[in-house]
Amino acid sequence: MVSGPVVLGIESSCDETGAGIVRDGKLLAHVVASSMDEHALFGGVVPEIAARAHLQAFTPVVREALDRAGLRLSRIDAVAVTTGPGLSGALQVGLAGAKSLAYAAGVPLYGVHHLAGHVAADTLEHGPLPSPCVVLIVSGGHTSLLLVRDLARDPILHLGDTLDDAAGECFDKVARIMGLPYPGGPAVDRAARDGDPRAVRFPRPLTRPGDDPYAFSFSGLKTAAARWVEQHRLQGLDLPVADGAAALQEAVADVLTRKALAACAAYDVRTLIVVGGVAANSRVRALAEQRCAAAGVELRVPPMTLCTDNGAMIAAVGELLVRAGAEPAPLDVSIDPSAPLERASLTPLPPTPLSLTPLPPTPAIVGPAS
Ligand code: KG4
Ligand code: ZN
Repeated sequence: MVSGPVVLGIESSCDETGAGIVRDGKLLAHVVASSMDEHALFGGVVPEIAARAHLQAFTPVVREALDRAGLRLSRIDAVAVTTGPGLSGALQVGLAGAKSLAYAAGVPLYGVHHLAGHVAADTLEHGPLPSPCVVLIVSGGHTSLLLVRDLARDPILHLGDTLDDAAGECFDKVARIMGLPYPGGPAVDRAARDGDPRAVRFPRPLTRPGDDPYAFSFSGLKTAAARWVEQHRLQGLDLPVADGAAALQEAVADVLTRKALAACAAYDVRTLIVVGGVAANSRVRALAEQRCAAAGVELRVPPMTLCTDNGAMIAAVGELLVRAGAEPAPLDVSIDPSAPLERASLTPLPPTPLSLTPLPPTPAIVGPAS
């Protein structure tokens, strides 16, 4: 069998510098460097620190990925890079590096939407996406329920999005209020192991009859958790962190999985894909498994290392775009820090050709007879 194109994917939208190499839907290598520890001091990602860290990590990460795959740059057939959404300085570093590599190797460059990367991450473990499928994207900045057909060719249909905070943001902010370390999501997950999810009854936002069945809202839940912490502090009580973490995680997992399965039922879709950093959450995974099994829906969740940001997921989208014959990006393509998720490719469509009807020739100006 003739093997397909080898695609190098670059990711630098937040605090992870990722390089991944994919061929024939298979992951050949991927390497991630994180500046998370540098941000932990500040309780959140500091954009300038992230951008500088990408600058330092870019070359070693790409070199390591090529070494692990046993390939030289000249064996790469295309470069794919996250051009949005994300932190502007961080995106700029990855894009500049990816342009240089594509130019040096003389191969096409593809601008990829970061969230489409999260969706495609699953293909590296479980093969091509069935069309259609329902995708729940749960990350630090986004919570969306999508109807996905051909990821490379078709527009992505948003069934619902969060109206305020994303699920990961809710975990991060509440963790901070509870005194747990950054990043909050994994810390809540760890703390929750020793807790009782029924110890506190946190609200399940937008789940009443008449509410939008697919929209999310997590800011009320965040406030409820903050009040619970405050009440304990005001009364001088010890904070039962494990119980609070378990109850918070339960509320988030309940809302996410309930709405995702409602979407599967309404659209008669038999596959649910859960992706993004919060898909690493143990309770989200367990409850999704339980509810999908009860509803006869196949559940696909990428392995933990491919749930959080990485370059392999961008390479996976790149490979789909190459195979679909998508238009590569021009070398002057720019970042789009707030790109909406409409398509996997962020390459601007070529301008519509102008079709001007030629004007009739200007009649000769005839001057007065001299
Ligand atoms: O997708 P991702 O790596 O980056 C973004 O594109 O945002 O997601 C990061 C988010 C953070 O909010 C982090 O706290 C959350 O994913 N996260 C988790 C877990 N691991 C990462 N949330 C809950 N439980 C986890 N185990
Ligand atoms: Zn992400």
